[in-house]
Amino acid sequence: MEAPPRPQLFDFQGVLMTKFNTDNWENVKNFKAKPDDIVIATYPKSGTTWACYLLDRIYFGKTHPEKETSLPLFLRVPYLEQSVPGHPKGKDLIDQLTITPRLIKTHLPVQFVPETFWEQNCKIIYVARNPKDVAVSHFHFSHMSSAHPDPGDWNGFLQRFMQGKMAYGAWHEHVVGWWEKKQTYPNLHYIFYEDLSENLGRETDELCGFLGVSLSAEQKESIMTAVKFDNMKDNNLTNFTNGPLMNLKVSPFMRKGKVGDWKNHFTVAQSQHCDEHYKQQIQSAGLHFRTEL
Ligand code: A3P
Repeated sequence: MEAPPRPQLFDFQGVLMTKFNTDNWENVKNFKAKPDDIVIATYPKSGTTWACYLLDRIYFGKTHPEKETSLPLFLRVPYLEQSVPGHPKGKDLIDQLTITPRLIKTHLPVQFVPETFWEQNCKIIYVARNPKDVAVSHFHFSHMSSAHPDPGDWNGFLQRFMQGKMAYGAWHEHVVGWWEKKQTYPNLHYIFYEDLSENLGRETDELCGFLGVSLSAEQKESIMTAVKFDNMKDNNLTNFTNGPLMNLKVSPFMRKGKVGDWKNHFTVAQSQHCDEHYKQQIQSAGLHFRTEL
């Protein structure tokens, strides 16, 4: 089947979205969560896949060794609101999961999360990444993925990114919305891409503490190896080979995996403008992002 044309952004209940994430809305809104479901929530390009695979290996590394599964990660950890013609809907993929816990990916801003997850007190992991690296990653991704409008040139893309003219709305509203939710919802574990990058072992220990999972030294070692950037890049089950709406020849999904790649794209003026733009919104919420390690 031919890929559908790139979607337009439109105002969906006050947030810019595309039809690929809203067409199945009634079913998403009425989703029935189970208490042991685990949600991985992020703004796009913030390390979602990394976190999904980490969770997948923590829970299923022992019972479903990679060599015994032929299911790509995007089917093992379905994308709740995804609704792309010619591909199974995320909500239906979740319904078909027979494993426990079910791992569920979403990019929804906090106010759109289906009620059922809060009612069931589900554990949620939110991953946030600094806006400069998100913008660069998103720019390359938008070239290769027809799930997003055409990115155009870098400068124009960056301006629109800062104005929040992206699917799922403005980056700062997303990270701040989820950060504020964390203050009142204890089952939300908020992590930073930069912290994962700095010390994955420490972050995994904290994550396991939150999840109530204990790993043997051997299990932890094997997970750390599996989720390394180069290993995920070489692994056809995690690198989005045959991923919906992606052309990996244009740009690989597993692109650089670094903190600070923005320095290869931003001019000094763009960098200053970006710092100024986000300072107020982020600081007043009590959030702090590192743009280099
Ligand atoms: P870059 O484009 O900067 O390389 P998402 O999964 O939310 O779409 O995020 C994709 C970004 O996470 C990409 O960033 C990708 O390379 C990075 N990423 C994926 N797996 C990673 C890993 N194991 N280690 C570091 N970065 C990873």
